[in-house]
Amino acid sequence: MATRPEMDLGRFPYLQGNYAPVLEESTFDEGEGGLRVEGKVPENITGAFMRNGPNVAWQPEHYVYPVDGDGMIHAVYFKDGRVHYRNRWVRTKSFQVEEKLQRACWGSHGKPHPVDPEAIAAGGSPNPMKNPANTSVLFHGDKLFALFEAGFPHVMDSDLSTVGEYDYEGLLQPGDGLTAHPKICGRTGDLVSNTQRFAEPYLTLQIFDKTGRHKRSIPVYGMHRRAMIHDIQICGDYIVGFFAPAFPDIEAAMKGENPFLWQGERPTRIFAVHRDGGEPIWFEAPTFFSWHFCNGFQSGNKLYVDYVWMNSMPISNELGTGVESQMRNMHRLVLDLKTGSVTNDKVGTTYCEFSRADERRCGQRYRYGFAAAATQTWEDSQNHGYNATIAYDMENGKSQVWDYGEGSNAGEPVHIPNPDSEKEEDGYLMCYVYNPEEGAYLSILSAGHVDRGPLAKIHIPARVPNGFHANWMNGMTL
Ligand SMILES: [Fe+2]
Repeated sequence: MATRPEMDLGRFPYLQGNYAPVLEESTFDEGEGGLRVEGKVPENITGAFMRNGPNVAWQPEHYVYPVDGDGMIHAVYFKDGRVHYRNRWVRTKSFQVEEKLQRACWGSHGKPHPVDPEAIAAGGSPNPMKNPANTSVLFHGDKLFALFEAGFPHVMDSDLSTVGEYDYEGLLQPGDGLTAHPKICGRTGDLVSNTQRFAEPYLTLQIFDKTGRHKRSIPVYGMHRRAMIHDIQICGDYIVGFFAPAFPDIEAAMKGENPFLWQGERPTRIFAVHRDGGEPIWFEAPTFFSWHFCNGFQSGNKLYVDYVWMNSMPISNELGTGVESQMRNMHRLVLDLKTGSVTNDKVGTTYCEFSRADERRCGQRYRYGFAAAATQTWEDSQNHGYNATIAYDMENGKSQVWDYGEGSNAGEPVHIPNPDSEKEEDGYLMCYVYNPEEGAYLSILSAGHVDRGPLAKIHIPARVPNGFHANWMNGMTL
């Protein structure tokens, strides 16, 4: 591995504290100098908890959270009650070129610049928008993917070595963005994803069967330009997405202006498309923005869509941050396919993000939603963390919270089904936590008893920076 010089990150708000990268790729087993287990690891689960996130490898010139930073996956593997940890960068083509040239060759998504000819000569892409493969990690169709919003997925081996980009056998064309948030239907195992382009159709839904074979493409017409559509949701027979007035503007970005345009005077429009295809049904609601769905389902003519609401798109190029101080809440939106009516109600008042549910219920009626939550005040700080995990009973809005302590940061809580039970509440919730006194650990909560605190903590003798999305790779071992 290349020797990595220390970076000067002082001017980047979202590379401070536990947002700062780690420069080591580590491997730890349990025992002296390695992982330390506090509490009891469930013995009936076999698989790997993996989480992706940005981890800059070379001194950046500019940095905007949450769109920049080279993807790094942190994984904890479980087998027979024993655990193993490793973290590895996703070795994209651009990562390899920068590794060879020992410097950053691509600009930030907030301030792109033409790619250095030396990087192109070394095999790098001339596209100034680098695919950092930094947003999520997902297993489907016998492939483990590192995902990024605006680029091809990267196939990974179970040991976190990078295989390379995957275009679904030519389905994806150069420049196509594939969402970082495909959904796997809990009923059929189909993967529902989408391709985004800068020409009509701006968004095309892509459906793959459980083996990864392409079933159909459904263009979604009715958008006047490409928007920041970060997530989509299966709701029974339908797929729902939010067309909020948040637009990427590459021309502006190349001129050094804000690459994201927020037109808050426009309403947020919502599409629902039948999974068999056909024209989208469009709804309209007072303006809001959302990064993430929690789950959705259908009951007769109504679609229930649970998501994290916020009042505008939280990106400021000047601040280099996500402007995390604006409120985010769990909401339930109900679309009536017959009357066209929309209701959009708060489920809870706690600041939350990174919403998840039992994946066996994806697209189906369910009861419990989980999220990272902020229950501490952070005053004027823009650099915001989540100190807690929250579990919502979506039927009555009641919640349970576990606070990891002063100054902690807790990641996206992933639901791991209990192999011996069909019940959501019998499963486990896992997330990485950083606590200033305890360091990094993987927290394992009972999904039904979040307020009792961790059943186990797997202490990791290296820092795990704050990151994005995680998933449970059931049955995956080394
Ligand atoms: Fe996301």
